[in-house]
Amino acid sequence: MEKIWIFDTTLRDGEQAPGASMSIKEKIEVAKALASMKIDIIEAGFPVSSPAQFEACKAIADNIQGPIIAGLARAVEKDIKACYDALKSAQKFRIHTFIATSPIHREYKLKMSKEEVIKNAVNAVKYAKTFTDNIEFSAEDAARTEKEFLAEVTEAVIEAGAVVVNIPDTVGYTTPQEFFEIIKYLKTHVKNIDKAILSVHCHNDLGLAVANSLAACIAGARQIECTVNGIGERAGNAAMEEIVMGLSVRQDFYNLYTDIDKKKIYSTSKLVSRIIGYPIAPNKAIIGKNAFAHESGIHQDGVLKNRSTYEIMKPEDIGRSSTQIVLGRHSGRAGFKAKIEEMGFYLSKEKIDELYEKFILIADKKKEVTEEDIISILGDTGVLEKGYEIQYLTVVSGQEVIPTATVMIKRGDEEYKAAAIGDGPVDATYKAINKALNIDNVILEDFFIQSVSAGRDAIGQVNVSIKVSDTIATGVYADTDIILAAAKSYLNAINKILYKQGRKIEYDFQERI
Ligand code: KIV
Ligand code: ZN
Repeated sequence: MEKIWIFDTTLRDGEQAPGASMSIKEKIEVAKALASMKIDIIEAGFPVSSPAQFEACKAIADNIQGPIIAGLARAVEKDIKACYDALKSAQKFRIHTFIATSPIHREYKLKMSKEEVIKNAVNAVKYAKTFTDNIEFSAEDAARTEKEFLAEVTEAVIEAGAVVVNIPDTVGYTTPQEFFEIIKYLKTHVKNIDKAILSVHCHNDLGLAVANSLAACIAGARQIECTVNGIGERAGNAAMEEIVMGLSVRQDFYNLYTDIDKKKIYSTSKLVSRIIGYPIAPNKAIIGKNAFAHESGIHQDGVLKNRSTYEIMKPEDIGRSSTQIVLGRHSGRAGFKAKIEEMGFYLSKEKIDELYEKFILIADKKKEVTEEDIISILGDTGVLEKGYEIQYLTVVSGQEVIPTATVMIKRGDEEYKAAAIGDGPVDATYKAINKALNIDNVILEDFFIQSVSAGRDAIGQVNVSIKVSDTIATGVYADTDIILAAAKSYLNAINKILYKQGRKIEYDFQERI
């Protein structure tokens, strides 16, 4: 079995996605996550393009151990020198230089002949070689370049010292079959091809970036350039999580492996999504909310009998919690019971039957029945006591005021009031809630806010994840008032913790076995 080198360009090409720019601190956070999942090469940025890019590349070179740190440089001396200056302190670094090779780019962008393109490419590699032996050359828009010319460029840059030659599908134009042929052609027509690794870098304009990259590996490519969550220019790049899991789940077919620690995939994906503020589509492969969720009764029944009926990989493999049962109008009793047990409630068969009738009434009205709905069904039938609810909340914040929140919370007939100041309106609100409920051991693990509708009156949805002792719970709430959404989602999570820790359980032992 041969290894596929994973070259992650989240911090360079990924950051070129509109609105995805990251601060230096954020880039280091992402780079640490990438290093901890054993990415082979991290492309840290394009040092010459701005002082901030230079600083970010330098900070990553100074702080990240393990992966090779790469920087991008056009085939000009100024770029290559800046790249070296930014990366020279790294444990291992690579200069990645490129020039476009396709007729369209030669004629309209570069205004260069074929000979001039080759000359510039070779000179760039030779110049980079004065700083390091670890040189990658990219033939930009390679997929639209004449095969014979691409082979000529490849041979010339390897001769000049490039150890990796990257074949980008810069505009996401190729197809798996065509790309396979391009790589096969290079493997068989470039004399010195065994002196370099062939790499691919596919964009996703036609939704084929991952398929094209994998087809290239069958033809002999041994490095794939990709990004976390598939972010990148326009429609993005090949998604790292799909490449890694594709190669792993279908190892029987590809006979290739990566060194990636797959258990870190999910947390890294969430980190990148949170930092750049790009939510993940629910149906996104591997990392989407629904990627391991089963709604229809037949699927739920199958998964409960044996997961492999409808799952080709385990959520745990990528560091997600176990299979999620999503309840909707197609769900049967088996799925409903499994969900309730997943939430920690083991009920008698009679009770399940009684609750199932109520559940179906709600499911008929709603697309998805959430944990909150189930908790309210459980509450209505006396299985649960009602949780805490916000009675009123006022928050003062702005310039030259100390953010202050006053809250009143009710649970049954009991009232809990408190006021607190904080670092911002959300912090003040959470502190007031903690004070009112007299709890000081809540750790806020994750806080994510996104707009779920358009316009000035958009609804903001807040997702929180909290930890109390060893119990983790998530809360979600959407409102046009985002502070209220933040407060209610937090209380929502606290209620779940209380339910989990102090629930009344009707446990029918016979039923369980
Ligand atoms: O898409 C592309 O061609 C690139 C190169 C610079 C590698 O990003
Ligand atoms: Zn690119």
